[in-house]
Amino acid sequence: KISKGTPLTMIIDAYHQPPQMIDMEKVQKDKYTLMISPFRYDQLYPNHEPRPINDGHYIDRWNKNYVRMPCSPCYTLGKNRQPIWTMISNQLANLRKKCDNKIATVEDLKTTIEFCTGHHYDMYCLETLINKVYTNSERIHFMSIVLSNICSLALNVDRICSRSPPLLRIGTTHSVTMSQLQAASLLACAFFCLFPYRSNNEQNDEYENFQDPNFNQLYRYGPPQKIEKLKCILHYFRRITNKIPNGVITFKRYSLPDNSYPNWSSSIARLCDMHLTTGKKIEDVKYTLQVDFANKYIGGGVLGSGCVQEEIRFTICPEMLVSLLLCEKMEINECIFLIGCERYSTYKGYANSFQFDGNYEDKTLKDNWGQKWCHLVAMDAFCFRDPIVQYDMKYVKRELIKAYTSFYPQTMKFERANMFGIATGNWGCGAFNGDRQLKAIIQLMAASEAGRPLIYAAYLDKNLVKSFFEVYEYLLKQQATVRDLYRYLERYSTENNQRSLFEYILKTSISSLKS
Ligand code: AR6
Repeated sequence: KISKGTPLTMIIDAYHQPPQMIDMEKVQKDKYTLMISPFRYDQLYPNHEPRPINDGHYIDRWNKNYVRMPCSPCYTLGKNRQPIWTMISNQLANLRKKCDNKIATVEDLKTTIEFCTGHHYDMYCLETLINKVYTNSERIHFMSIVLSNICSLALNVDRICSRSPPLLRIGTTHSVTMSQLQAASLLACAFFCLFPYRSNNEQNDEYENFQDPNFNQLYRYGPPQKIEKLKCILHYFRRITNKIPNGVITFKRYSLPDNSYPNWSSSIARLCDMHLTTGKKIEDVKYTLQVDFANKYIGGGVLGSGCVQEEIRFTICPEMLVSLLLCEKMEINECIFLIGCERYSTYKGYANSFQFDGNYEDKTLKDNWGQKWCHLVAMDAFCFRDPIVQYDMKYVKRELIKAYTSFYPQTMKFERANMFGIATGNWGCGAFNGDRQLKAIIQLMAASEAGRPLIYAAYLDKNLVKSFFEVYEYLLKQQATVRDLYRYLERYSTENNQRSLFEYILKTSISSLKS
């Protein structure tokens, strides 16, 4: 394990402020904050975690700007427009009864899903996990206690959520805040595959730019890591059955306005502070903005066979899966923040060798709103089928805008509290075939332009830590600015280069670029 650059503690201590007191009145009036239901916040007890108020009655919004909820009275069947929810809730109540009587089987669970959705799904992974992988006592605990609770969470979705959550559509800067209980209830509906019109086989144009949030894909036959991912997700349900978390989480979509695009070729911003390490994974660098190496369809293959950085993160922090329900695909100048999501599982391995490795107690501090101080930004790199084209400035600019959008300090740009460090790494350089050296320079430019320190978690790549730090020091010595780095990239893209980008930079002085 090696580390270089500004010590991590210096970056975190300098920029991380203790969780901020949030002005509830201000937040509730903010037109960009869309809440599922308002929160009770008692000024007298600022340290008490707030609980969402239950409005008591469900407010339905059955249109293209909101999640179409399974409990909606407009979700109907047949000529006499019978609400499907009546049937679903009967099925769920029956299953719960069987769980409570300790006689429920996986077959019953399958039949319930089939009745509720009208589809016959292959559930090989779910069946194998519960019937073959779980020990006897794990199976009994899941089938009686945990499953009974999942039924209740889904059955009560109308009361828990009280209104249909808004969708986060392309081009908008909006956020949705909900309690962890509300997230659990939505995830319980996804567990039973209840969200209508979201599956591919349902032929619905309305959701062509959305992920399918229902879990049926995850249950289907596939490679062994699917069973491990399912273990993590069922572990989450087990945890919340023992104790329902009482904090809140936020999903925020951000669209960088045209007039905020930096002028890279004239920017005189100096290089930001940087820490490089192979000692920590991104999820372990707390109190920073952690980067999710995302797919433009948030979550990527998390409910399929995918099992790399994004999919693993969503699996160990399943509240993040709610973003699949809410978010339309991301455009070039957009990113999505996932704030406050708790981690529940530890893991070992990666991709094919990924395994659930037991419980994780997330000790991250909370603000007075009960939101954990954990900020993740989903930023999708370009997927290079042919890696040669990535040096073309057209693609370089695309990646610069994406990184800058994601690093742009949210609200009150010049307040130090919003300039906390960014924990990233080999973004776009695994499944998406990017060049680590090029992406390192692009992210360094974006962080420097945004005025925030960078923590580069190079995963296992010690050579990258050494070579990137050598280049960084070489650039600092010459007092490089963002526009100098831009010039390096322009030159590098036009010259027919046998050398790597880092070699090229080390062999070329900044003064020679200007000529
Ligand atoms: N911390 C730090 N670095 C990591 C970590 C971690 N926890 N995990 C992996 N890396 P990849 P991409 C390093 O392939 O190329 C998903 O399906 C490791 O060196 O996940 O942007 C998404 O949904 C790894 O090779 O990101 C997208 O569809 C590198 O980061 C797609 O993959 C890149 O990780 C995105 O692919």
